[in-house]
Amino acid sequence: MIFSEVPQALADPILGLNDAFRADPRSDKVNLGVGIYKTEAGDTPVLDCVKQAEALLLQQESSKNYLGIDGVPAYNQAVLALLFGAEHTLCVNGRARAAQAPGGTGALRVAAEFIRNHTASRTVWISNPTWANHKNVFETAGLTVQEYRYYQAKDHSMDFAAMQADLAQAQPGDIVLLHGCCHNPTGIDPTQTQWQQIAQQCLQQQLVPLFDFAYQGFGAGIEEDAAGLRLMAETVPEMLIASSFSKNFGLYNERVGAVTLVAENRDTCERGFSQIKHTIRANYSNPPAHGALIVSTILHDETLRALWHSEVTQMRERIAAMRELFVASLSAAGVNQDFSFIARQNGMFSFSGLTTAQVARLRDEFGIYIVGSGRISVAGMTRENMPVICRAIAAVL
Ligand code: LMR
Repeated sequence: MIFSEVPQALADPILGLNDAFRADPRSDKVNLGVGIYKTEAGDTPVLDCVKQAEALLLQQESSKNYLGIDGVPAYNQAVLALLFGAEHTLCVNGRARAAQAPGGTGALRVAAEFIRNHTASRTVWISNPTWANHKNVFETAGLTVQEYRYYQAKDHSMDFAAMQADLAQAQPGDIVLLHGCCHNPTGIDPTQTQWQQIAQQCLQQQLVPLFDFAYQGFGAGIEEDAAGLRLMAETVPEMLIASSFSKNFGLYNERVGAVTLVAENRDTCERGFSQIKHTIRANYSNPPAHGALIVSTILHDETLRALWHSEVTQMRERIAAMRELFVASLSAAGVNQDFSFIARQNGMFSFSGLTTAQVARLRDEFGIYIVGSGRISVAGMTRENMPVICRAIAAVL
């Protein structure tokens, strides 16, 4: 017997909250834990562009034959164009290849195993704080995780000097995990000047950037949000990107993402990509088709693509409006503390500064679920639930 020795795993800090939320019998409970976009009515509907693409696929699909190991070719081509811009020299020169992967997490895992098994690199630097699953993914793949400072709690700003100082300790070949936009959980992104400095530091110290790019379009816009990543790609000879369409296409449960390898020349890229495919084959053989076919259909059709742009804009603008309303409603609920920084953060999350004890009280006494780090999903707020949320926060502060 071997299973009796297995210890209980801790609940996942984000997805574990969903289980607790579902089990909570209170009818006025509010889930602001996991990053899921909700409309003003509190739903997470299928985007119109997705529904239309699915109708086309239903008519046209003629086979459920396996995809290749790296997925749908037209999808991978669309991924590269979204990351770098259409017809980018990196793609024309064969320096970049994308492989479809099951979500951003699947892409991160493939990237991590590729690094661990096929390069001499063993260390990944992640920001403190970062997405709660990063450390888990990298350590499970056999890599060592180090942290660089990123956030300054006292004024809710980015501690850029500390980030640079910590990364100065990194060794040539070390991996640096960067959030392409809408840093999760802080919502604070580097400025363009800071991106230039990060890129120069990576170049000079021979560090390899690994971009986690899960919120393209939720910061300033589809093209704008890729600016840091594109600048990096112009500067360093090699990098990896784990991208996801869970949020910006609302395709959460279809698991649609990609792992992209950028190498110094075509030959190195082809060899590296062959090992990416080898890694995929050992994990899940080849990816599922439906989600990638949806994205590919939309991105290769001018009308559907324009509809997608407008739907992403709507989501982005609603979240921004909720940020403003959140700040105003906290003040209306009698909170004296300055929360204006929330309106300046990007993406789905607000890093509120609430303590673990306050987070526990919000859940236990008021049925409001947020992540233990104090991360609140602003994308789950509506005009209707806002007063309840703000009164509860006022009570626990
Ligand atoms: C989140 O951070 O809430 C999302 O990325 C969902 C997840 O898988 O954790």
